[in-house]
Amino acid sequence: MTTQVKKICCLGAGYVGGPTCAVIAYKCHDIDVTIVDLNEARIDAWNSDLLPIYEPGLDKIVFERRGKNLFFTTQVEQAVIEADLIFVSVNTPTKKSGLGAGFAADLAYVESATRKIANVAKSSKIVVEKSTVPCRTAESMRTILEANSNENIRFDILSNPEFLAEGTAITDLLSPDRVLIGGLQTPDGIRAQQALVEVYAHWVPTDRIITTNLWSSELSKLAANALLAQRISSINALSAICEATGADIDEVAYACGRDTRIGPKFLKASVGFGGSCFQKDILNLVYLSEQLNLPEVAAYWKQVVDLNDYQKKRFVSHIIKTLFNTITNKKIAVLGFAFKKDTGDTRESAAITLCKDFIQENAKVRIYDPKVSTEQIFFDLSAPGVDDHESLNKRVTIAKSAYEASEDADAIVITTEWDEFKELDYTKIYEKMHKPAFIFDGRLILDAEKLRNIGFRVHTIGKDF
Ligand code: NAD
Ligand code: UGA
Repeated sequence: MTTQVKKICCLGAGYVGGPTCAVIAYKCHDIDVTIVDLNEARIDAWNSDLLPIYEPGLDKIVFERRGKNLFFTTQVEQAVIEADLIFVSVNTPTKKSGLGAGFAADLAYVESATRKIANVAKSSKIVVEKSTVPCRTAESMRTILEANSNENIRFDILSNPEFLAEGTAITDLLSPDRVLIGGLQTPDGIRAQQALVEVYAHWVPTDRIITTNLWSSELSKLAANALLAQRISSINALSAICEATGADIDEVAYACGRDTRIGPKFLKASVGFGGSCFQKDILNLVYLSEQLNLPEVAAYWKQVVDLNDYQKKRFVSHIIKTLFNTITNKKIAVLGFAFKKDTGDTRESAAITLCKDFIQENAKVRIYDPKVSTEQIFFDLSAPGVDDHESLNKRVTIAKSAYEASEDADAIVITTEWDEFKELDYTKIYEKMHKPAFIFDGRLILDAEKLRNIGFRVHTIGKDF
């Protein structure tokens, strides 16, 4: 008989736990969903009118179900005790020190969440790995949980990695390409897998729900991110060839993407990919390969990250060279600080690296982003790399609009592809800039010809750079 899930608890109210479980509550009115976090400020924000993360469509869903079958709390123990199924959706950052530092995932939060479940559970639970973890992490979780089980309490472990992208999280969750559920291929494991299948089947067509063994599921998540990031590094590598030959990267991407075997998605050249996961997950895969004594495989994936770093460096060097080999005291308007449009998330954003480099070169940097707060920008630029706060305040100012950011500027640098940057009145902007006025488009979103007619000197990555 299949276990019917009636109460879900999610440990971790972040970019994944919050939206994912809010959508489950929205689609499954017969299930109570409680999202818990140790961070009180974050939970307070989830319970307020201003949610802690910006994600199109999220407010509507949360406001509709909150207090009905969707709850946010810091009362971890009670939520765990009451739940039939628990998602572990905590952060798994790259380790900063110790064994595997700089590559391996830090599993301390996953372990502490697992121990909490083991210590407080008074009845059987299905425990679901939602966080992105190295292959075979479920084994360690199972060992901890089984050491604490008895004849009245058993734990089943599932892997259910999340594939949402920020900025489109709600549409991704409402209409996923697939949902992946890995489980032990034992009668109990298959029963647990089926219980989670039935939760998703409230709104996801069953042919889109894939069931696999635990390890395939864990590895598929790292593999999917590595493959996506590898496409971006491939197109960015080609962008350098375009600049040196007169080919146009948009035309090359379009021509290649029309081949149905290649496909058009994830071929947009850029100033480099950012976000909390691509780099972290590839480094995790590199570490795993090394641990498995597969150095050639490790080197292959490492190159995807190296190329991304090269792309950012290349962009900055080109800007400095074009601005007559010095940007000391020049005003650079940086448009966009989030790692992509439609999110306020700045984790691993290319803009951070770029701004730090401009500051190191003694430029005056004026930043505008429609969704990132001033505090967040200063936090990101302060550590590590730029530790002198006083000089940071002299070098960096935050503008309230793209117009304000570009006033008196020597150059505009487009770092995030926000739609509003396409619609600006560039004639008005040009009039108030120092001449010659430069625009460096790191996202290929502007109409270069139109800007040149206004008088701008336009440099677009992968084109005329
Ligand atoms: P996040 O940092 O936004 O959220 C994690 C939350 O977990 C934090 O609020 C933290 O306080 C909380 N937490 C840590 N330990 C806890 C514990 N023991 N009990 C309760 N709460 C605890 O991270 P995120 O972006 O939501 O990512 C979570 C996981 O999902 C990561 O493994 C990530 O790789 C993966 N992932 C992220 C995305 C994304 O778009 N951000 C997409 C797919 C997968
Ligand atoms: C990515 C994956 O797309 C999700 O499937 C995955 O769940 C998630 O990582 C994760 O595991 O965290 P996300 O990082 O939110 O999602 O956003 P993406 O749309 O993948 O963009 C990542 C970065 O690549 C951004 O900086 C974006 O601007 C850049 N990018 C993307 C390009 O430079 N070119 C492209 O063609 C696509």
